[in-house]
Amino acid sequence: MNFKVIDRDATHVRPDYEIRFIIDDDLTNCTDRELLKFQGFETGAVCDLPSARRVYVSIKNSEPETLRIAISKVMKKIATYNIKSVKMPHISASATSQGGTEAAMEEIVSALSAIAEGFVLSSYSFDQYKSNPKPCKIEEVYVSVSGCDKMTAEAALKRGKKIAEATNYVRDIVNEIPEVYTPQRMAEDAQKLAEEYFNVKCQDYSRDYLKAQDMNAFLAVNQSSPNDPKLIHLTYKPNGEAKKKICFVGKGLTYDSGGLSLKPTASMLTMKADKSGAAAAMGIIKAAAELELPYEVHAVLGATENMIGSSAYKPDDVLRTHSGVTVEVNNTDAEGRLVLCDCLSWAQVEVQPDYLIDMATLTGACVVGLGDYTSGVIGNNYDLQMEFKKVAELSGENYTILEFNDHLRPLIDSKIADVRNSVPGAMGGALTAGLFLDKFIKDEYKDKWLHLDIAGPAYVGDAWGYNPAGGTGAGVRGCIYWMLNR
Ligand code: BES
Ligand code: ZN
Ligand code: ZN
Repeated sequence: MNFKVIDRDATHVRPDYEIRFIIDDDLTNCTDRELLKFQGFETGAVCDLPSARRVYVSIKNSEPETLRIAISKVMKKIATYNIKSVKMPHISASATSQGGTEAAMEEIVSALSAIAEGFVLSSYSFDQYKSNPKPCKIEEVYVSVSGCDKMTAEAALKRGKKIAEATNYVRDIVNEIPEVYTPQRMAEDAQKLAEEYFNVKCQDYSRDYLKAQDMNAFLAVNQSSPNDPKLIHLTYKPNGEAKKKICFVGKGLTYDSGGLSLKPTASMLTMKADKSGAAAAMGIIKAAAELELPYEVHAVLGATENMIGSSAYKPDDVLRTHSGVTVEVNNTDAEGRLVLCDCLSWAQVEVQPDYLIDMATLTGACVVGLGDYTSGVIGNNYDLQMEFKKVAELSGENYTILEFNDHLRPLIDSKIADVRNSVPGAMGGALTAGLFLDKFIKDEYKDKWLHLDIAGPAYVGDAWGYNPAGGTGAGVRGCIYWMLNR
């Protein structure tokens, strides 16, 4: 999909379809007023007039998220039409910010980026396994702007497009089926990123390396899988001097059956999406390279399946981790934290970042607590959590801070090891999982670490906004916005 900045009255541009906004339900100057009234047009609605080749959508304001959602509503109507080009309504700064000021310019840039995101995110479909796929046919989107020069406008649209394309890339990984998407495949895809971008490097490590590194918790989870584990390390380096070094660690469970603590049938379904954290980290590397971010960005991915079989690791086992901390396994379905604890301590030794952020579909408890639309932000540094939430939410993703408290800490004590991997029967599962990870964060990294539990939003049963049913790419846009705007 391409975005073109045009003059407001460009008469030579004849789009196949036109989008029009109705702001604040005001139909006064609308040429199709009578028709819209007749159709009972109301707040938040979309009204498609195919014979006029126009679609109306009502919006309350022109904030970025309002625009993304408005475009997603329009796209639900027109995405599969046989049309190649659409024209957006004219974009200008709101009455509240003075034209020509920096604030007005910023507002327009955010709006344009959001418009491109709205289109690209809403045009996504995963139809690899459909005999008659119906992909979106729109190739060109025309936008006219005032209060911002053409080059800035084009750059803003390009930025939004790239962020959304990286999100769609992650959706494809998450949606791919577990038979196909093995740890080996994840390593191949990561290597492809390194082939595609000259400033991205990739190293992937197999079982022998994990053994040599004493990553025995990660290895235990993999123990009964016919597919070998992969520790994957991607590095993006900017051309100039990097402002900071940021490391994303991703849970890459290409399938989570629960292991011997087997999941019930209904809960096992969708567990191909347990690789969403690792997939998001891959998308962040892609976006960092495309946007030429001024940070050194690392992605450390722990890829494995959690399966059952006679060689499976067992509840009652004790594992000696990369950090030396010993873990009593009391539930093999709390496997994500076992993979992550080794990856997190490996990253602290090998990468030594300024910020260490892990992303994981870690707990069902987080989904119960926050629902399908919100990720949990967990850590020891409240200021960093606040900053992350505030800036990441500009992307349209939702984040809620979950705070540790000292009463929860002893719940993960073990009678025979340093720590246990779950707390039978206890409440607060998202936080006790976070506290488990915290045991593997060295003192000097306590304030630099964030854990994002994306279990709710990473994969959804029903489409919402510009998110399709299935993989959403949760985490990518939030983290990219954080790096762009912090
Ligand atoms: N992958 C799951 C968490 C999950 C559940 C993600 C639902 C997305 C949707 C994780 O490995 C898991 O099974 N966690 C257990 C932990 C428990 C055994 C302490 C859970 O949440 O039930
Ligand atoms: Zn599990
Ligand atoms: Zn899992």
